[in-house]
Amino acid sequence: MPLTTIKFKESLVEKNKLFKYINKRYTDRSLYLPISIDGKLLDRLESYNKNNSYCTVRAKSGLLSKSTTRYLSQADNFLWTYKKARDDFYSWYRVSGRNYSKNRDGLFSKHLALSFPEKVISNLFVTSEILRDAIAPLIGYIAVKKAKKQYNSSSLFLIFSIKNGSEEKRAIVELGRLAARCWLELAKEEIAVQPMSQGVMPLLALRLKGDNIDLPVKVKELLFKGIDFLSEEFKLSVDETPFWLFRCGKSSLRDKNVVTLRREDYLS
Ligand SMILES: Cc1cc2nc3c(=O)[nH]c(=O)nc-3n(C[C@H](O)[C@H](O)[C@H](O)COP(=O)(O)O)c2cc1C
Repeated sequence: MPLTTIKFKESLVEKNKLFKYINKRYTDRSLYLPISIDGKLLDRLESYNKNNSYCTVRAKSGLLSKSTTRYLSQADNFLWTYKKARDDFYSWYRVSGRNYSKNRDGLFSKHLALSFPEKVISNLFVTSEILRDAIAPLIGYIAVKKAKKQYNSSSLFLIFSIKNGSEEKRAIVELGRLAARCWLELAKEEIAVQPMSQGVMPLLALRLKGDNIDLPVKVKELLFKGIDFLSEEFKLSVDETPFWLFRCGKSSLRDKNVVTLRREDYLS
């Protein structure tokens, strides 16, 4: 059953000023180069909080504390720890460029900014389920190290939170809209973005379901610490539950061919 259904209605509305940046927005997983972030940009991003009763964005420039970085990097191991999550990832992971370009769906391996040894291991991942399960701890180990480097090369972080008590599905849709707008604001400034969801998205379910969430005790304990680290880091109020995180910075991606496919035809 779908989580929600979205229908579009034709109407005459003024084009949003960010519309023209749609084709400039993409996920950039490269290690970023250091940049200084203008305080005015932080204000502009946070101005989207005005009159929003569902969700918030908090922007922080500079590096995250060591403990938050450690927590978020460790969280990148979650996917590899669970067979269900691994198999789900496998179902939309594509190593064939031809398949990816033809069907225009899934996550293409080329977009993960993998080094040569990582590419070799990722190809083993798709060869068989037995091999996939066997090398999962190794991939988890590499993922944690890689995530740490990605966090430590970033110059700006945005955290998107759901306001407690707001209707959950509506709040998630509103958070998606808010995040898309912020992402376009960053695309306008040529600032690269990688969403990082592993250590943040499960926190809403954890807060809503508490101990009833179907996760091993060790992971639950880690996630509870995560809420504390992120709340402290971004000065969140007790009313805000973190749900999505962007790491941002200056791209070091030289090969623009690794950017996800874009359509030009509908942007007139
Ligand atoms: C809800 C959501 C969560 C995501 N989480 C991650 C993540 O944890 N790590 C990551 O590298 N990319 C993440 N992405 C980025 C997607 O993989 C990416 O948006 C997708 O491949 C399409 O590419 P594009 O953003 O370049 O159009 C996430 C995207 C969405 C919409």
